[in-house]
Amino acid sequence: MDATVHHAAPLTGTLSVPPDKSICHRAVLVASVSGGETEIRPWPSADDCQRTLELVRGLGVAVKRDKDAVRLCGFADGVARPPAAELFCGESGTTLRLAAGLLAGQPFASRFSAGPSLSRRPMRRVAEPLSRMGAVVEGPSGVGGGDLYPPLVVRGRRPLRAIRYELPVASAQVKSAVLLAGLAADGPTTVVERIPTRDHTERMLCHFGASVRTEGPSVTVEPGALTSPGLLVLPGDFSSAAFFLVAAACLPGSRVSVTGVSLNPTRTGLLDILERMGAAVTRTDVKDSWEPRGTVTVEARPLRAVTLGPDDVPGVIDELPILMVAAACARGVTRLQGMAELRVKETDRIQSMAVGLRSLGVQVREPAADAVEIIGGRLQGAAVESAGDHRTAMSLAVAGLAAQGTTTVLGAECVGKSFPDFFGRLGRLAGSTTVKTVDKP
Ligand code: S3P
Repeated sequence: MDATVHHAAPLTGTLSVPPDKSICHRAVLVASVSGGETEIRPWPSADDCQRTLELVRGLGVAVKRDKDAVRLCGFADGVARPPAAELFCGESGTTLRLAAGLLAGQPFASRFSAGPSLSRRPMRRVAEPLSRMGAVVEGPSGVGGGDLYPPLVVRGRRPLRAIRYELPVASAQVKSAVLLAGLAADGPTTVVERIPTRDHTERMLCHFGASVRTEGPSVTVEPGALTSPGLLVLPGDFSSAAFFLVAAACLPGSRVSVTGVSLNPTRTGLLDILERMGAAVTRTDVKDSWEPRGTVTVEARPLRAVTLGPDDVPGVIDELPILMVAAACARGVTRLQGMAELRVKETDRIQSMAVGLRSLGVQVREPAADAVEIIGGRLQGAAVESAGDHRTAMSLAVAGLAAQGTTTVLGAECVGKSFPDFFGRLGRLAGSTTVKTVDKP
């Protein structure tokens, strides 16, 4: 599928976005090792969440689906059934890394397979702490033996050894893998993170009755049985809302609200950065439930460049591509440093965004392997490649709204990973003649 985007008039409107993908993965995985039935609604149509659901089905979890919800009956004693077949994770890194943690504490071996892009993503970061806990994690190593890649085999052990683990890379996926493994450990397991990452796993475990303590940079989970709270209503995905919020910030005269969206402070770094850049941001109807949520409104104002460093990265890790679009629309040079993790996402996102923005006439410099500089200016429509990456595709489509003329995002079907109806919703906001998709044979 290709998507054609024309220069847009100011955007005004209110919309909702699909349920949070990150929280959904955790809901499914934690429910699968908990007593009682868990209902998750609304159920996201994202491919990635489907992968996690299929994975727990492969472990013998009873799953019922209706139009808008999924109900799961987990294993009350926390012990799943050995999978009869390999567990296919598609392109979902969160599925693979979190499930590897959960299954490290199961008394059987699991084999995880992956799609082409996930098969190139590094897994030593989870294999290392899980091996210290006593699991055996095997997989092919890349050229030079530098890392470990799917397909992975995780030979679990119950109980695992409780450890204290300092994260060498700021990653919520690695933290979560260790905490989920900690449920099956022989004592309290602690993860120490120098820079805070999203805390959905901690919140989900607490909501299921686990003992989780956060003290400064460390979080400790105690082993023990979990019980489902019953109904989990997922908030909207802030990372999906980000595209509309940045579009509003970039197009003069715009004002866009997203309702019912996650306002978990470990996810909303983008809002603080947009404010620093000059946009007007308001949060209303805030409900502080197990995962905070509310309405966010962004109004356009002239944007100015910012400088971000490594400590800013985890709070905006998935929003960096769309932030690069805001930078392209801002006055001055935006400097993004400490961005190494962007190179190991679904694609090398520094590369895919730099190539796309340059095609749109933006000057982008890469002064170091982990740094980018974007010189704000005028964007001119062109054909750009998604590089098979959902967040690159959506970000470049938003850039297309700000660009003069017409922008075509090639290979735009990859948005299905997180947001299958993205172009439909963008079209409803910007006008159906402004945004169109064409299916390719
Ligand atoms: C995620 C954490 C982030 C993020 C990914 C989802 C999660 O990855 O990029 O899209 O749900 O824990 P890292 O923790 O590896 O940075």
